[in-house]
Amino acid sequence: MATPENEFFVIRAKENGVSVIGLTRGSDTRFHHSEKLDKNEVMIAQFTEHTSAVKVRGKAVIQTRHGEMSTDQD
Ligand code: TRP
Repeated sequence: MATPENEFFVIRAKENGVSVIGLTRGSDTRFHHSEKLDKNEVMIAQFTEHTSAVKVRGKAVIQTRHGEMSTDQD
């Protein structure tokens, strides 16, 4: 069984300037990292001891083991 800390997810930017923002784990939820992706750049990342949530801003496709979604779908 996968633990939260070895789940991978993939983000592919569909436009320039997509932000992938990591939020901290624990009682204090704050941004700790923002990564900019240009069109067609791919980021492969995990949930970690430090990161429990991720916010994606801009047009992108996101794949997790729960499925795939686009930020710009209805
Ligand atoms: N140093 C961060 C960490 O280990 C790197 C990181 C992992 C990250 N997953 C992320 C940053 C997702 C942004 C989004 O938690």
